[in-house]
Amino acid sequence: MSEARSVLISGTSSGIGRATALLLDQAGYRVFAGYRREADAESLRAEASDRLTPVRLDVTDSGQIAEAVAEVQDSTDGGRTLAAIVGNAGAPLAGRTADISLDDVRAVFEVNLFGHLGLIQACMPILRRGRGRIVGISSGAANISLPFLAHYCATKVGLNFVLHALRRELRQEGIRVSLIEPGLIDTPIWDRGLRSLDHHEAAVEEHGRVTVADQFFRARRLSAMANVRASPPSSVARVVRKAIEARRPRRRYSVGRLSLLARTVPLSPLWTQDLVTRLILEPPWRSRAASRDLNHR
Ligand SMILES: NC(=O)c1ccc[n+]([C@@H]2O[C@H](COP(=O)([O-])OP(=O)(O)OC[C@H]3O[C@@H](n4cnc5c(N)ncnc54)[C@H](OP(=O)(O)O)[C@@H]3O)[C@@H](O)[C@H]2O)c1
Repeated sequence: MSEARSVLISGTSSGIGRATALLLDQAGYRVFAGYRREADAESLRAEASDRLTPVRLDVTDSGQIAEAVAEVQDSTDGGRTLAAIVGNAGAPLAGRTADISLDDVRAVFEVNLFGHLGLIQACMPILRRGRGRIVGISSGAANISLPFLAHYCATKVGLNFVLHALRRELRQEGIRVSLIEPGLIDTPIWDRGLRSLDHHEAAVEEHGRVTVADQFFRARRLSAMANVRASPPSSVARVVRKAIEARRPRRRYSVGRLSLLARTVPLSPLWTQDLVTRLILEPPWRSRAASRDLNHR
């Protein structure tokens, strides 16, 4: 491991961020673990060594970003011992693409794209001092426009493009950039996604429109199936560690169930992508009533 041994991670209350914070803590890093609720900071402190420092960090709040970065700067010799920042914070958004309000769409972009970018921009001075790395947790969902998850996918496509450009621009400065595309990982994000789906289905009903019950039912069932087959968050944490420690880190890492398959999707023609999603959303064996519902929509 290099001399630089500190890491700043956003979104460590649960799932991938928490697993990564604990793994790197056990590996001897000084971890600055981003949290939003005091209870999460306490539970991290209880599970980790004294080295782990929870930092209040809502990535949509530029004031909190500045305070967190200042704390990291003060504790890492101005950034000289900062090994990496890991942009992990993320939120789901699930529902019919045309029915989700623009406010909700903006909110998910604020976290998944602008929040990441804001944290990276604020960290650039300290990253430059120690040639720290940038690791971004994107998603296999960046490779396909999934019905009911289009806005989430769009945030991850945006993040990928930002990280690809950063990698090219920062190469000469010796700052390595890796993006990680997890597949299905067993974390609370799936329950959060289901709550988002419930909320947006209710909103469609509230507006007095025909609920596309059949599609919502399938989206929900697919989500439940995906969760059962998911990989543990520790598998992603191990890959984050590789991206931080490898002499020549990869540009992109795929990890978790279906992540490699997701990478091949952009190589297939759009009609096959349409066919697969159609078989999921409109299986030929669906009920006539559901078909009528869709047709009157
Ligand atoms: N699980 C998967 O299958 C999967 C697949 C591909 C990619 N990913 C990506 O992996 C990352 C981690 O997600 P996860 O699966 O581990 O889900 P998770 O357990 O729900 O974790 C999401 C984390 O992001 C934090 N967060 C949300 N909004 C935030 C904000 N405004 N500022 C700072 N932190 C915020 C959450 O904190 P709070 O508890 O305070 O809300 C939580 O710590 C996300 O970027 C997600 O898109 C997950």
